[in-house]
Amino acid sequence: MRKKIFWAVFVCISQSVLAAESDLPLDKADIDLTDGVSVQRGARTFVNYCLGCHQASYMRFNRLQDIGLTKDQIERNLIFGNQKVGDTMQNAMKHEDAENWFGVAPPDLSVISRSRGADWLYTFLRGFYQDLEKPTGWNNLLFPNVGMPHVLWELQGVRNLRSDPDSAETEKLVLKTKGRLSHAEYDMLIRDLVNYLVFMGEPVRTLRVRLGILILFGLSIFLILAWVLKKEYWKDVHHQLN
Ligand code: HEC
Repeated sequence: MRKKIFWAVFVCISQSVLAAESDLPLDKADIDLTDGVSVQRGARTFVNYCLGCHQASYMRFNRLQDIGLTKDQIERNLIFGNQKVGDTMQNAMKHEDAENWFGVAPPDLSVISRSRGADWLYTFLRGFYQDLEKPTGWNNLLFPNVGMPHVLWELQGVRNLRSDPDSAETEKLVLKTKGRLSHAEYDMLIRDLVNYLVFMGEPVRTLRVRLGILILFGLSIFLILAWVLKKEYWKDVHHQLN
């Protein structure tokens, strides 16, 4: 009996895991949080294309000052509607509406980079293809049957699943309609976006690195001072000994 229950549970769990995940190898996102310009570009994409459905309720707009933006720039370029610089990144969509439209509510993305990892996000956001059998018209290589439509399709273009999956080609998708961006430009856009998602997941990281460098700098000055002092003190001692 126990064995049966064990197997039933095992099968259920493995199937739900299989249903949600694919074994697609992840592409490497070349994350660099010290690249403030990249994080800024990512923030712009996020506000323009993601905040309509998702929110980032742990992230305040004014944290963007950490990546070199001024309050004025944030207000002018990144805040729409009547939100203020001190507000968190909320969206206007009601939770129930979102659930009705997409079947699942779009999750909060504040700390998504911690649960999924940068490479997963990078691969996911580059993995959409057209699938007219799905309610949204889209599917995803990494997240099969995802409830999210391909919101960046105008930039990336429309791709279809290769009809001969056994072909020697490693690319599983073929471009059907060209988008506004080239392949490389789209990859760059997503890299910046993921850079921003990682920044959002740990906004104090860059500050910590900067503080660390400052502290090391301070310590090394102290070390030099201590060394000079030591030499001064021992000079007299050496004189007396000689
Ligand atoms: C039209 C609404 C909509 C927009 C716009 C949108 N998403 Fe989504 N997103 C969803 C929905 C719905 C889900 C839930 C999908 C599911 O679980 O099947 C989702 C899921 C996700 C997930 C997977 C979360 C997880 O771990 O399960 C990520 C990551 C994500 N979105 C990132 C983004 C990013 C980045 C953007 C901006 C480029 C964006 N989304 C724009 C609706 C949207």
